Amino acid sequence: MTLVRLVYASRATDQMQTHDIVAILEAAKRNNGKLGVTGMLIFNSAYFLQCLEGPRMAVNHIYQNIAADKRHAQPVLLDYREISERRFHQWTMGYIGEDKFLAEHLLRYSGTDQFNPFEMSGESAHSLLLAAAEELPTI
Ligand SMILES: Cc1cc2nc3c(=O)[nH]c(=O)nc-3n(C[C@H](O)[C@H](O)[C@H](O)COP(=O)(O)O)c2cc1C
Repeated sequence: MTLVRLVYASRATDQMQTHDIVAILEAAKRNNGKLGVTGMLIFNSAYFLQCLEGPRMAVNHIYQNIAADKRHAQPVLLDYREISERRFHQWTMGYIGEDKFLAEHLLRYSGTDQFNPFEMSGESAHSLLLAAAEELPTI
């Protein structure tokens, strides 16, 4: 079974309320868990950056659902590749919101200290997501 990882950026719409993040993470736990998809999500009230990893058909299925969600728009693929191992295997969907972590790491992985994943390379975006995972408690 081929493992892939997909990284995309998107823009939150005005249909996205801060509390929606809870429902999104619940859906991720339910659906990703069932399909063997793991990953990481960063949201700062304007933009989303998300990595999905898992079996190719499962990642594509979940991504197509996500891309049609009206709470965000303009999804742009930053990276899509076959991988030999997962990096977010502890999380059906790990989550980091806007906090001190982002501010401290943005300059390291992007041109400015402002979070705008549309301006990031796929590699830098993945590195930022990996750094975010290090901040999370393992379960
Ligand atoms: C930025 C963003 C990320 C999301 N990530 C996931 C995800 O990883 N897995 C998932 O199942 N749904 C995710 N969703 C929610 C889906 O778009 C959709 O609402 C959900 O899959 C519907 O699940 P249900 O059919 O079980 O109700 C995300 C939505 C947004 C806006």
